[in-house]
Amino acid sequence: DRQKHIRNFSIVAHIDHGKSTLADRILEMTDTVSKREMQDQLLDSMELERERGITIKLNAVELHYHAKDGETYIFHLIDTPGHVDFSYEVSRSLAACEGAVLVVDAAQGIEAQTLANVYLALDDDLEIVPVINKIDLPSADPERVRQEIEDVIGLDASDAVLASAKKGVGIEEMLEQIVQNVPAPTGDLEAPLKALIFDSVYDDYRGVVLSIRVVEGTVKPGDKILLMNSNTTYEVVEVGVNSPKPLKRDYLMAGDVGYLTASIKDIQDTRVGDTVTFADNPTEKPLDGYREMHPMVYSGLYPTDNAKYNDLREALEKLQLNDAALEFEPETSQALGFGFRCGFLGLLHMDVVQERLEREFNMDLITTAPSVTYDVELTDGTHVNVSNPSEMPESTLIKQINEPYVKTEVMVPNEYVGAVMELCQRKRGTFVTMDYLDDYRVNVIYEMPLSEIIFDFFDKLKSSTRGYASLDYELDGSRASDLVKIDILLNGDKVDALSFISHRQFAQERGRVIVDKLKTIIPRQNFEIPIQAAIGAKIIARTNIKAYRKDVTARIHTGDPDRRAKLLDKQKRGKKRMKAVGTVDVPQDAFMAVLKTD
Ligand code: GTP
Repeated sequence: DRQKHIRNFSIVAHIDHGKSTLADRILEMTDTVSKREMQDQLLDSMELERERGITIKLNAVELHYHAKDGETYIFHLIDTPGHVDFSYEVSRSLAACEGAVLVVDAAQGIEAQTLANVYLALDDDLEIVPVINKIDLPSADPERVRQEIEDVIGLDASDAVLASAKKGVGIEEMLEQIVQNVPAPTGDLEAPLKALIFDSVYDDYRGVVLSIRVVEGTVKPGDKILLMNSNTTYEVVEVGVNSPKPLKRDYLMAGDVGYLTASIKDIQDTRVGDTVTFADNPTEKPLDGYREMHPMVYSGLYPTDNAKYNDLREALEKLQLNDAALEFEPETSQALGFGFRCGFLGLLHMDVVQERLEREFNMDLITTAPSVTYDVELTDGTHVNVSNPSEMPESTLIKQINEPYVKTEVMVPNEYVGAVMELCQRKRGTFVTMDYLDDYRVNVIYEMPLSEIIFDFFDKLKSSTRGYASLDYELDGSRASDLVKIDILLNGDKVDALSFISHRQFAQERGRVIVDKLKTIIPRQNFEIPIQAAIGAKIIARTNIKAYRKDVTARIHTGDPDRRAKLLDKQKRGKKRMKAVGTVDVPQDAFMAVLKTD
């Protein structure tokens, strides 16, 4: 009977359409958190999420809703991120739900990630509850958006909830629709345990904490469990739910979403997507895993202090448990020493991982510019994958380089179509097609090299469409391209961590831009430093950093000790992120210079 009163749902939306604010209102409305405890974006518990105002990790919370029919329902709300880099997290949380609240901004309408996420939900056969949010905005046009949901997605939006998460309008109606339209979970309570691991996080006291959705059976402390894919057994210590603080329970049963601990210390053993069952009486076959996600971009992470190499490895292992899309393997660089080549879903993901390593694990890192993986066909017929530009084989050994391509969909008002096409063309894109969504919105589809997308495409797209364009992309095989490796020499020495791959057509220009950029980034030292860009033995651009003359504090007199201290402090902080490369001190920014193409 309890099962009939459970509703498991997610909220999906394009970034900034108001998911987290809506989740806050739901928590308030259901008295899950008291007014005193309430803070904005409660589910975005990571410090980084609050600061940036974005959701990175999914969060599951249990709440109780007293519906108009007089019954009390148990809601499991799973918040999901909206950014394209994190769609992996979205598909994982959807697998634990029967329904999804689709939030669409009443002024912006449907955007690229609205579509991408709602398709994920429809693929999983979830019941969709459409909500048109931000109706308080002067520019809101809910009727247009209602029509758009019907025309573009093909959902019946005649009963779509009109809401303002900010003003608290429409929240109750939405909760009622969840009760009415989202089906209760089914699943045999008597069957052997079958539960899906959809997230995991390491806790120093409790070991690994698994987030699970129980599909069949029940689980309680003392049960002997088997993680089916990793084939390891444990004894359950505690089960419970987050509300949003952890609350112990006697058991979790089919339909429940909650957490489980079992003194799991070895973080390698728990894989998101694995199935938990009983060791003695296992379920017949594991649940289908999730769609696997593969990294799109790679970069090198090096501790500024070489002695911290093992700490970095441990930090990456812990982070990986909580971020299944992160990959890493050891690598060495002549310039930077021992570090790791890490794979990310995109640049935002890369940024987030770096910041979490710095904040949560106190690491001081030097990171190299991101690169895609090239499939290199050698003259002897063999293939190698190259995700570190400095490892590109000699050009005489290469028959052909294939680079990953993506199919990009840019959704934009039709007045900006020209600007979008020009940009795509400039980024080596090939036009595929153009669909009119309605009278003024167009979906422009191009095939483009992934490497062009990861650089500054999104920023350029936003600025050339005054922020109106939204972007979605998916991998679409690889194509042969005329690519070359460009090396950077500082003081005559090749710095492997600064090498990058460019299309031959842009090589000269990019070599020039980068040496000029490095000249402004690398501080002057007491000798002159030549900077050169080269393809093989051929120098394509060069410049010099002049020797420096003055001490920064020389001009400041003793009368102003405060200012002097501040300056020295600033200098010290700047130094922290420097790496001595041969005889030259190179700051972190230099390794990212290749990303700035103009
Ligand atoms: P991500 O977590 O980054 O995917 O974004 P989100 O969809 O969770 O959006 P969030 O809740 O962070 O809201 C984005 C912005 O829109 C914030 O500045 C909110 O204050 C604002 N916002 C949310 N709902 C409303 C609303 O109903 N009306 C108005 N005017 N603003 C809103």
